Amino acid sequence: MAEKKMIIDGIECPFTDERNVLEVARNNGIDIPSLCYCENLSIYGGCRLCLVENERGALDAACSMQPKNGLVVYTHTKKVLESRHTTLQLLLSSHRADCLTCEQSGHCKLQEYAHRYNVVEPRFDENTYNHERLDVSSPCITRDPSKCILCGLCVRMCAEVQNIAAIDFVKRGKKAMVAPAFGKMLVETGCVGCGQCAAVCPTGAIVINRQIPEMWKMLNDPNKRVVVQYAPSVRVGLAEEFGMPANEPVTGKLVTALKRLGVDVVYDTNLSADLTIMEESAEFMEKLKSGAKLPMFTSCCPGWIQHVEKAHPELMPQVSTAGSPMEMMGALIRQQFNNSNDSVGDDDVYSVAIMPCTAKKFEAQRPELEKDGKRLIDLVLTTDELARLIKAAGIDFKNLPDSEPDSPLGDYTGAGVIFGVTGGVTEAVRHQGLHCHGGRPDA
Ligand code: SF4
Ligand code: SF4
Ligand code: SF4
Ligand code: FES
Repeated sequence: MAEKKMIIDGIECPFTDERNVLEVARNNGIDIPSLCYCENLSIYGGCRLCLVENERGALDAACSMQPKNGLVVYTHTKKVLESRHTTLQLLLSSHRADCLTCEQSGHCKLQEYAHRYNVVEPRFDENTYNHERLDVSSPCITRDPSKCILCGLCVRMCAEVQNIAAIDFVKRGKKAMVAPAFGKMLVETGCVGCGQCAAVCPTGAIVINRQIPEMWKMLNDPNKRVVVQYAPSVRVGLAEEFGMPANEPVTGKLVTALKRLGVDVVYDTNLSADLTIMEESAEFMEKLKSGAKLPMFTSCCPGWIQHVEKAHPELMPQVSTAGSPMEMMGALIRQQFNNSNDSVGDDDVYSVAIMPCTAKKFEAQRPELEKDGKRLIDLVLTTDELARLIKAAGIDFKNLPDSEPDSPLGDYTGAGVIFGVTGGVTEAVRHQGLHCHGGRPDA
């Protein structure tokens, strides 16, 4: 079959089955700006930032335009640039732009495009940003309506990928925003704290609850022994944060970085992933022998557990009673320092887990998982938070030497990793359409 080509900015751009002109352009090295498009979600076409001009001088959204053989479009004519500039001015005129203190600064697409297209001040005087209160009810994410540009990416991610639909467009005109229905707070909805809405939000309107100051405080407290465990996927997610090839394992550098930050003891959650499979296998055999209802679902993912509790309580008897690897490691750490002969007791240990998922922040706070009135995990940081800590400490991560995790809880087999990428977690989670992406929409 003859190769199909379209002409973008005078350049022949071959294409095959691309979904739209935006994808054809990007696959041919031409970056058209977009704020409401994500390749994994349905097309909305609402932000109008991806407009291109056709041969007749008409503007159309590249994300909603079918590629056709011989189609000619232009991405940076005077008309296109003026339209983009006006769109950005409009967006900024209804936006609380406090970039210096915004959590998203440096990662914000609105900020990036405002710089790229030289939008230095809003054209429209009246500042009409949404004054609805912040939603800080979730231990995992914060929603700030004053930063929302109504792109709808979070709504589609939550409904189409996570099958939860905890948030949607509400109200009209100047009061329009994305929020849970009936004026509820996130914690009162089916939200499972997965953080996927924050992962796709192009601005600071939904952000992960970052707890970096707490970590610095403990690292600088001479009376605390900071014990850190890191999840299997952190070692691959971290590489990307430092411009290294995505999915390149950097376990040795990760351990060295933690030690240089001032962490006293570093353990690998892979060990307790081993324990999880042993526990869950034993439980499964018992269920099989006793004729209990199958399948048995893993208890490893806190987002999944919340989804079962909130939306499918009838499945609860089929969920494993084993603790997650994070909590099991937390219990082992407490026990180790309880039994140790040195002067550091359980009370002085500050147990931190580096996890790929925001829902782990919720899991760590569950009162049912406390032992003797104490949490097993004091703080959960995501891979992104760890990367920010490392950058703040001025550590040249790429060029770090390798180190090994500490003994005795730093050793493990490969079984936990197999569990993570094959049976247990993956199958159980996909069964209900709730997907775990390690904090990234495209992972
Ligand atoms: S969301 Fe983006 S543009 Fe808005 S204040 Fe934050 S960094 Fe600045
Ligand atoms: S955290 Fe997950 S479940 Fe909650 S609103 Fe965001 S995408 Fe939906
Ligand atoms: S919260 Fe973020 S992702 Fe959701 S509509 Fe607003 S800007 Fe878009
Ligand atoms: S990306 Fe095309 S309209 Fe928003």
